[in-house]
Formats: sequence, C-alpha cells, structure tokens
Amino acid sequence: MTASNTSPLHRSVCDRSARITIWGAGFIGLSAATAFAQEGFHCAIVDVDASRVRCINAGTVPLPGFEDRVQLDPQTLRDGRLRAVSPDDKDALDAQIHLICVNTDRDGKAFQDPLQAVLKAIGSAHRADRELLVSIESTVSVRWLDLVLPLLTGATGVVGTGIHLATAPRRDWLLDPEMNLRSLPRVVGTLSPASQPLVTELYGTVSDVVHMAGDWTRAALSKSVENLYRYVDLVLTNQLAAAYPDLDMAEVFRLAGTKWNVPSLHPSIGIGGYCIPLSPHYAGDGLLGEGQLPLVDSALDWDAAHPSRVAEWLTNKFDGPIGILGISYAPDVHVPQGSPTLALAAALSAHGADVRLHDPFLSTEEVIARGEGARALSWPEDLAAVRTLVIATPHTVYADLPDHLSALADPPTVIDSLGKLREAFAGTKVRYVEIGTPALWAEHNPVLGNGSSVSDGTR
Ligand SMILES: NC(=O)c1ccc[n+]([C@@H]2O[C@H](COP(=O)([O-])OP(=O)(O)OC[C@H]3O[C@@H](n4cnc5c(N)ncnc54)[C@H](O)[C@@H]3O)[C@@H](O)[C@H]2O)c1
Repeated sequence: MTASNTSPLHRSVCDRSARITIWGAGFIGLSAATAFAQEGFHCAIVDVDASRVRCINAGTVPLPGFEDRVQLDPQTLRDGRLRAVSPDDKDALDAQIHLICVNTDRDGKAFQDPLQAVLKAIGSAHRADRELLVSIESTVSVRWLDLVLPLLTGATGVVGTGIHLATAPRRDWLLDPEMNLRSLPRVVGTLSPASQPLVTELYGTVSDVVHMAGDWTRAALSKSVENLYRYVDLVLTNQLAAAYPDLDMAEVFRLAGTKWNVPSLHPSIGIGGYCIPLSPHYAGDGLLGEGQLPLVDSALDWDAAHPSRVAEWLTNKFDGPIGILGISYAPDVHVPQGSPTLALAAALSAHGADVRLHDPFLSTEEVIARGEGARALSWPEDLAAVRTLVIATPHTVYADLPDHLSALADPPTVIDSLGKLREAFAGTKVRYVEIGTPALWAEHNPVLGNGSSVSDGTR
C-alpha cells in the first residue's frame, strides 16, 4: 500500500505523529506504552489508580518485581512522549488510537466492567468526523466483543464507518526477559478487513512478527485457546501424579518431555496466575456446563478440588504447623491474584491446620489480609517454628533455604511444589519431598535411609 492511498490515521502511524492512549498501567499497559514511546509516538497511559499514575510520572515502575521487566526511559518522560494521566484527561481522550490494557479478571473470575467503562469513555469523546482505532489487548471472551461497538457508539449515536476495531492479545513470559513484546510473535485481528493495513503498521512498530488473523474474534480466541491447552495439560499432569503415588512421576514427565512435540510439565500444589486458570472461562464463556466442552468441564471440576486434595494429603502425612513459602504464582514478582498458595492455605485452614505464609513481595499486612486465616511467617526467623514447609514459589531469596534449614537442630520437612530446589537440598540432612515423587528425600539423604517412617505415602 502506498502512502497516497492510506488513510490520514495510517499516515500518522507511519510518520509517528499519531498520539496513542493506553488504558491501564499494569504490566501489559506499561510495557505497551513504553514500547510505543520508544518508537517515537506520544503516549498517554491512563489509570484509575492515582498512585500508579504518580509513580510513573516520577519515573518509577509501580509494579513490584517488574522493575527490570519494563524499561521506563526517563527521556520519554522528560520530553513528554510518555505521561501518565487520570481517565478524565482531555488530551488522552482526544487521541485517535486507544489501546485497552485494563484488567479483565477479579477475584479469580472473568470480569468485564473495566473494559466497558473504558469503551464508554472513549465513545463519549469520539468525534464522527475523525478516524478512531480501538484495540483490545486485554484478554477477553469473544462474546464480549459483541458489546464493543454499541458501547463505543452508544454515547454519541455515531455509527462507526471510521472506527477501526482490533484485538491484539498479549503473550508474555515473566520468567524470561528475552521473551517480550518485541520478540514474541504477535497475533492481531480486526473487525473489518479495511483496518488490517493500519493495525499491521501499528503493531509492526513494536513487534518483529505480526500475524494478522482472519478477523478479530479469531485473534481474541487464539489467546484463550493457547492457555487452555496448557491448563488441560497441567490438570492432567496433576491427575497422573495423583494416580501413580508410588512412582517418581516428575521423572516420567521429564522423560515424556524429551519427545519433540510434548512439553515437559511438573505436577504442583495448584495451577496459578490469572491467565491459565482463567482461560477456560474466556474460551468457554457461554459453553461451560453445556456439554460442548466436556473435557474442560471435567478439568475444572477436578482442579477445583485440588487444594483440598493437597491439604488432606499434607495434614494426614505431615506435622503442623505448616509454612508455605511464596504467594505470587511466579517467582520474583508481586502477583497475588490467582495464587495457588492462598487456595491451599484456605483448604488447610478448613482442615484445621495451623498455617503460616511468607512472600518477599508482600508485606506482613498484605499476607495477613489475603492469607485466608493463615498467619504471617517471618523469614527466616520463623523457619524453626514450622514442622512442614511447602515451597510454593521458588523466589530467588529462597535459594538460601537449604543453608537456613541445615543450621536448625530439627528442621521441618520440605515439600517442594515444582522440584526447583531438588539439587540444592541433595546431601543435606533436611527431609525433602518433591511433589510428584515418592519421598525423594530418602534417596537424597542417605543419613536418613530408605526405611524412614515418612517414606510411606508421601505421594
Ligand atoms: N500480566 C501478564 O503477564 C498478562 C499477559 C497476557 C495478558 N494479560 C492480560 O492483560 C490485561 C492486563 O493485565 P495486567 O497484568 O496489566 O493487569 P493489571 O491488573 O496489573 O493492570 C490493569 C490496570 O488497569 C487499571 N484500570 C482498571 N479500570 C480502569 C479504567 N476504567 N480506566 C483506566 N484504568 C483502569 C487498573 O487500575 C490497573 O492498574 C488483562 O486482561 C490480562 O489478563 C496479562
């Protein structure tokens, strides 16, 4: 397409004069805003959370643990290419390109209120004589897309001939900074084929590979489907580990993962985060429980009982008090949403266990507030106060755990959800059990011998 037959908005993307408003200053919005600002666009990032707005304008990433994952270039703040504002900022509302990156979940459930509020705000400021591009980067159910045009046009009654609508779901892998917005292939889709060149141009500025889907529904659904594959696989992994309690299933999964088209998965105390556990609710919105996705229905049912299953195993086989290390579902970030630890803590409390929780990214007050009746564990002082210690999230700070526990006269038994500290505990006197293995500690700790009393039934 030549410059002469592109629209004014498209040309403003090509020459970087387009102003972009990004809604939501979480990891997704902030990483998008910084990437587009780096490419020369003037970006306003809007958030209802005034503290996030203040932090960004002061040059600080307002997301604990994400400081190294978002490059907040002070130069872009100084020269005004990036600024954070509240939702009533007139210039932000006046932009012709809006990227929606607000949260679409709350309390472990899909939640569309923030998306609706943003669409209404954009619609109320839209002028019929100008083109408008609204791209939804947040994860959504495809049924929600039916509401987008009515919400956008409802306030003005403007029919959207100049309105470009797109979905551009995000993929991010927090554990590897090399897998980022620039390097990961980006799936995008548009409501109208006429919007494809504009959207390809825009996203091509920040992502090396852009896959244009046949339409915006397919692009949006691809996001939930890729996570749903993973969800079902992970539930199956936990089921297999429970079905073969006397086998080293962690090794079985490692071996299976040596096949070229099989991922290497590990059983765990629970599936966490807000992408994978929520994917059945986005991909199966309106279909769950209707017999159309029976595999997903059954996976959800089995998985819902998993915290209680693990709590029963822990309370039957191990002594209390029980400590759990790590609340965030991923290492070295503050993401308490969708925490398998909190689900397990609730189930343990229901089983009458005395539970203590620690996470280096949550204050004691936050641990207590979120802790489902559990107490806060002071790291490392309280390690001697628990008899069983679950490593739920391998935060970097826990690398010292083998040393701390080895220094205790009578250390607690360690239950390692993902087996990440297996090598670090090898040869120590600490009783170590990796989820998915039968009393692996006995092999690792010859001092305790294979006939130890806890080897029976640990998995
Ligand atoms: N974080 C990830 O790794 C990741 C990966 C892929 C997809 N996603 C999806 O991207 C979306 C955003 O994720 P996130 O992690 O950045 O979320 P987040 O919860 O950290 O941030 C969302 C932000 O939106 C703000 N917000 C809510 N309502 C608003 C409104 N009406 N106007 C302005 N701001 C508003 C909130 O205050 C919050 O700061 C979600 O749909 C999520 O599922 C996230």
